[in-house]
Amino acid sequence: MKIQKADGNFTLFIYGASGSLAKLKLFPAIYELVKEKRMPSDFKIVGYARTEMSDKEFQDFFEQSVREAEEYIDEAALKKTLKHVHYFSGQYNEEKDYKKFKKYLQTIEKKKDRVRIAYFSVPPSAFNDIFTNLGKVNFNTKKSKLRLVIEKPFGYDLASAKVLKKKINKTFQSEQIYLLDHYLGKEAVSNLLSLRYANSLLTSLMTKQYVSNIQISALESKDIEGRANYFDHVGIMRDMVQSHLLQILAYLTMTAPKEKSSEAIHHEKARILNSLKVSSKTVVRGQYKSYRKEKEIPNDSQTETFAAMKLCLSHPNWKGVPVYIRSGKALKEKWTAVVIEFKPEKPQKDHGQLPTNKLIIQLQPNEKIEFQLLTKLGGKTFDFHSLTTGRPIYCSGDCLSEHGRLFLDVVAGKQGLFLNFEEIFAAWKVIDPLQKICDRMHREHCEPILYPANTLGPKEADELLKKDGFEWYNPS
Ligand code: BG6
Repeated sequence: MKIQKADGNFTLFIYGASGSLAKLKLFPAIYELVKEKRMPSDFKIVGYARTEMSDKEFQDFFEQSVREAEEYIDEAALKKTLKHVHYFSGQYNEEKDYKKFKKYLQTIEKKKDRVRIAYFSVPPSAFNDIFTNLGKVNFNTKKSKLRLVIEKPFGYDLASAKVLKKKINKTFQSEQIYLLDHYLGKEAVSNLLSLRYANSLLTSLMTKQYVSNIQISALESKDIEGRANYFDHVGIMRDMVQSHLLQILAYLTMTAPKEKSSEAIHHEKARILNSLKVSSKTVVRGQYKSYRKEKEIPNDSQTETFAAMKLCLSHPNWKGVPVYIRSGKALKEKWTAVVIEFKPEKPQKDHGQLPTNKLIIQLQPNEKIEFQLLTKLGGKTFDFHSLTTGRPIYCSGDCLSEHGRLFLDVVAGKQGLFLNFEEIFAAWKVIDPLQKICDRMHREHCEPILYPANTLGPKEADELLKKDGFEWYNPS
């Protein structure tokens, strides 16, 4: 088994290095890569932010973030990581600071032949200044070998996503852009496509002929964790459904591309997303009861912290198969899973309607796959009960956290696990009409349904499936 390593020297600069994305995800991932001996000997991590700070102060912040994120610390690896960490204080909108930064890089970069990576851990409002100024100091040329990593959300709706694309394209080539959705770095998520196409059993069964419905649930026990300003602006549909859950849906239903290129994968994903239809009548929006008491949340906020919806695929392979998606905050437990329910056999005279077969792929907290089959009870009569075959899937071989894994792909110049704008636009086309209706509802004071924390969300979400003769498969 070949272990992926950073295959060349690089400098990573992190814009917004004191922000929560860097602290919670990026720093622990960098430490993990050092601990796992996957970093080259010559790499530099440079925090770039407006706050004045010394290298030492930034290293302390980096160290503290890693200690908070990790249960067990390999002290030697952490010490080694910190030796590569630097800090530069500058404004995002001042060309002169970028010029100084360019000179500063020359003082710390030993070998000149290296990849440079600019990681955006800043709010989208700062993006354009950074693109423009990087361009002004010629960081957009081929020679500069710069790659840009930007995390979701990509815009707020279709129109703003188009503006974002335009702004990026004004200065950079698409080969330089890595649009990151961290779910695609999860081994269990990328395994969905492999499972479908490595197992002829699933390749043949996963079509409209056999599948009665698909369910995708991403339940979270955590609330908004102090991210009031961000979350109240976007809500769960933009935060989780437009990105992570539609990506899972795309992997579950897309046709395997003939070519194995990133472009072909993006195109197939976009094709399936473009075939989705959704109606505002089949959407349930909820809000946990104490949401408006959270710090900095307006006491009349109408933002949804829970959403459940029915989507229909018009793609010929799936026409008529409903897909139910739900996601919410402050729920009973953290549970992310995909359930494929198969069509039942026709009811038989002796034993009526039998329970259905199901394939359950649990993505979080513990990855596992279960097949629910029917087996006959002992005795002369034909009575059945459900037999669950299944086992946890432990990652073996090349295992890494999602940000570490995706980061190595950026260093290697592999874009397959990143998004492109074609699929991002297709996902916004699904969500936009729903949001527009919600926005209109806001004006008419149409409240989301309140639900108590620690539950599975509003019961209206159950009705959505009941009407079609199905029910949610819930965590046991
Ligand atoms: C992020 C969302 O993209 O994903 C968060 O902004 C959410 O609101 C998180 O909690 C969930 O990620 P994971 O990996 O914990 O399932």
